[in-house]
Amino acid sequence: PKPVQISLDETDVNVIGTLRKSGSEGGDGKAVRVLVQGRVQRVAKQGGLIFVWLRRGMKRMQCVLTGDLSKTYDALVLVRETSLEIIGELWELPPGTHAPLSRELRADFFRVVAAAPGGDDALITRVPENYDTASSQASEALLNLRHLTLRHDKPSAVIYVRSVVERAFQTAYHELGVTKVSPPALVQTQVEGGSTLFSLDYYGQPAYLTQSSQLYLETLLPSLGDVYCIEKSFRAEKSLTRRHLSEYTHVEAELDFITFDDLLDHLEKLISRVVDLTLEDPVAAATIKEYNKDFVKPTMPFRRMRYSDAIDWLRERGIKNEEGNDHVFGDDIAEAAERRMTDEINECIMLTHFPAHIKAFYMQRAADDDRVTESVDILMPGVGEIVGGSMRIWDFEELLAAYKREGLDPSPYYWYTDQRKYGSSPHGGFGLGLERFLAWLLKLWTVREACLYPRYMGRCTP
Ligand code: 4AD
Repeated sequence: PKPVQISLDETDVNVIGTLRKSGSEGGDGKAVRVLVQGRVQRVAKQGGLIFVWLRRGMKRMQCVLTGDLSKTYDALVLVRETSLEIIGELWELPPGTHAPLSRELRADFFRVVAAAPGGDDALITRVPENYDTASSQASEALLNLRHLTLRHDKPSAVIYVRSVVERAFQTAYHELGVTKVSPPALVQTQVEGGSTLFSLDYYGQPAYLTQSSQLYLETLLPSLGDVYCIEKSFRAEKSLTRRHLSEYTHVEAELDFITFDDLLDHLEKLISRVVDLTLEDPVAAATIKEYNKDFVKPTMPFRRMRYSDAIDWLRERGIKNEEGNDHVFGDDIAEAAERRMTDEINECIMLTHFPAHIKAFYMQRAADDDRVTESVDILMPGVGEIVGGSMRIWDFEELLAAYKREGLDPSPYYWYTDQRKYGSSPHGGFGLGLERFLAWLLKLWTVREACLYPRYMGRCTP
């Protein structure tokens, strides 16, 4: 057949590949003749029929090979991942049957574009579809084959949702009139402590992979106003946990002339809007429903809890700190204790007012209690901390004192300090780990599942 191009109406956009027809007009009960291209996601033989689920990106189409076609050599040896071109008529599904878009392609011609191996080398043999992501052995072996596992339904759906969520952040910030910028990844200043810095030789000078774009965002407030970025951050984490990566995607924003309460209000509105926008995408909504069926959007206002109350909460329940003692004011709340608290309270928590000495150098002290900072961590059930934010020290002298207290040489920070010299302002911001947000949204066992090619201690391949 010699197909001719026809225009695509709204439903046709869902069709895999280019929709073409030859011969008579479609519509009004007449089948449309189309050519589709894709890879075999599934193949099933039933009676004399061969059902092929063709995959093109996130789209799927059921194709049926009947009669002589189903008896050809290529049809009989057809295996998953073979790429095919199929021409046939599009029909509504017989009642009581199910397939994507409620239609099937009744093939009258097909051609193997490129074969895929069967037997021991078959995709499904090398990378099983359902494996336990909690089993480290299984996941290490499968992560070596991540380029192939990505072809399975769940891994690709997660990456698709990731793209929708990223777009949702961009839309939400566009609606708020916040400008997106792109700070550098190669830097010479630390933000979150020296122990997790990746250092490198930069033309003979020491440099690092950035831990956070925060300090750079702060420099833009006087020129661009409120700003945000979605960039990679790097942490040389020396432990293997379910929620730590060496390279992760950091959604960060900085807001000018705000109070701490403004920051908290902003965060809950942003997260709610991003969840709404994500659920507006039908494929993302279906994916969340499938993998996190009990998901409910957090209700506003989010529960706000001071750090000191969290310490009391942990003491009352006998949950110990990392040394095995009762928690006392000043303790870091470690991952295990934090998880127990979030899982038991089982709702989104904004944990605020952490002691200054367990937080980063740049955090503003609270006006009513000098021991603590105007800081916030957002904790989500199943994951724990997904956001870290604070008001920033905006007084020149106070910042110099903070460098000194932390033992930081102020000279590489000259550009950051200058902000406090030329018309400073009360301001604050936050960083949100995109992979942790996804782990919460999709109930993933580990943030590794939310990465295309995860990087964590020991893994830089593929
Ligand atoms: O709490 P953190 O370290 O805060 C900052 O970096 C601030 N400078 C951000 C800012 O205010 N602009 O990190 C913020 C968030 C965490 O809550 C977590 O979600 C994520 O970044 N994060 C990680 N995600 C995966 N792997 C890691 N190793 C992470 N470290 C932090």
